[in-house]
Amino acid sequence: CERQDGRPFRQRLLVVANRLPVSAVRRGEDSWSLEISAGGLVTALLGVKEFETRWIGWAGVNVPDEIGQKALTKALAEKWCIPVFLDEEIVHQYYNGYCNNILWPLFHYLGLPQEDRLATTRSFQSQFAAYKKANQMFADVVNMHYEEGDVVWCHDYHLMYLPECLKNHNNNMKVGWFLHTPFPSSEIHRTLPSRSELLRSVLAADLVGFHTYDYARHFVSACTRILGIEGTPEGVEDQGRLTRVAASLWFFNCLRHQFPIGIDSLRFQNALLVPQVQEHIKELKERFSGRKVMLGVDRLDMIKGIPQKILAFEKFLEENPNWRDKVVLLQIAVPTRTDVPEYQKLTSQVHEIVGRINGRFGSLTAVPIHHLDRSLDFHALCALYAVTDVALVTSLRDGMNLVSYEFVACQEAKKGVLILSEFAGAAQSLGAGAILVNPWNITEVAASIAQALNMSAEEREKRHQHNFHHVTKHTAQEWAEMFVSELNDTVVEAQLRTSK
Ligand code: ADP
Ligand code: G6P
Repeated sequence: CERQDGRPFRQRLLVVANRLPVSAVRRGEDSWSLEISAGGLVTALLGVKEFETRWIGWAGVNVPDEIGQKALTKALAEKWCIPVFLDEEIVHQYYNGYCNNILWPLFHYLGLPQEDRLATTRSFQSQFAAYKKANQMFADVVNMHYEEGDVVWCHDYHLMYLPECLKNHNNNMKVGWFLHTPFPSSEIHRTLPSRSELLRSVLAADLVGFHTYDYARHFVSACTRILGIEGTPEGVEDQGRLTRVAASLWFFNCLRHQFPIGIDSLRFQNALLVPQVQEHIKELKERFSGRKVMLGVDRLDMIKGIPQKILAFEKFLEENPNWRDKVVLLQIAVPTRTDVPEYQKLTSQVHEIVGRINGRFGSLTAVPIHHLDRSLDFHALCALYAVTDVALVTSLRDGMNLVSYEFVACQEAKKGVLILSEFAGAAQSLGAGAILVNPWNITEVAASIAQALNMSAEEREKRHQHNFHHVTKHTAQEWAEMFVSELNDTVVEAQLRTSK
């Protein structure tokens, strides 16, 4: 399609996610500053450019007053963002509670938090009620801004109840839903008291997407085992209505469609050419000269396996005394979900382990681990990726893990090694180039560190090329285009079917 001025029409895309790409910080009664939010969902979606995108979500802050809400709405509009205002109680029950204390650990096979399992079980119903209420609030904002022909793309575990809310209001809306976490085995999903309601609601969408074939398979088998609905090669069909199910990556050609997620790899490659970044690279090289640099970049989250990674590094130092003053681990961990008790415990656990190891192997002039609890800006992050010899991504479970993609995109000069958890979705796309490890086995991870540090230049080159090809070929833009085009086709096919 073309406009009158000859430029192509860009489809309007309403992205709906709990987290907006920017988080707001209040500076005065009616003044706000906006900071880029961290997380894979934001990274992937920021790489999507060729749509007329409006992003609907929560700005990460409680704004009880009208003056503040008006000013924030205006500031966000400049970034094409539309806020959903959630009050403190809803955030507590929906975001901290149901989303991040129940769904998140469950979907990553970590179970409910050990110490307050009973309390969590008791609060299930009230938290699920808040979850539904919050989803309805997102739906109300979507309905307010929806124009005929828009594609509404809902994201992640926070908004599993949203497709149903949207379709109840307007059955003609094109609704897609994409999960950025694993979808667990149906045996795990079965334990959720709200298991059926969540599945039914997701099935109200026209197209449902997952990172890997395994997650899609688990979803379909949960529908079969819990709802008694059979899966088809296309998706899930219930009383003549098809919800198409698709995955980003799969080994066998079991599903018809795929749309590999990615990053905006050119943005990273280009950043390395910026003089300020080159200067920073030079400084880092001087600072760590004579030492190999190992890097971890994660949100400070229990799924990322940060304590396990650090213990594996300790084991490596223990077993390889000749490396002790020749290697440094930089662990940059941005704090996240800090009101959830499990996350607070993790922070002190990591600090304790790092302190102990630095005390054990450090000297007056150098420590083996530099741990920073903070977010780095984009340019600083690119410079760090570029000087790294070995990246350590040791998630206990991870939907995909885009840090591994970012590292690869910045390694054309150095061709460093990626050590990657076999439990990250990225193991299916970057597995052939990375050293795959079981993050729970610290002996194996320690041995992989030794293997990576001793790897020949030829082997590093070969592994890097494999991964670089994938990361530069499958971009975020391509992922979104394929998802949206698939969603458009699905709706047209459904209309044809009902008109027959
Ligand atoms: P998740 O989705 O669980 O957060 P991903 O690896 O897919 O994991 O994405 C994390 C995103 O957050 C990446 O884009 C990464 O650059 C960013 N990020 C993570 N930690 C930091 C940090 N300490 N500083 C800056 N950005 C970070
Ligand atoms: C993961 C989730 C995202 C979330 C991000 C950051 O990537 O899949 O939905 O936005 O973590 O977490 P936060 O709770 O800060 O939004």
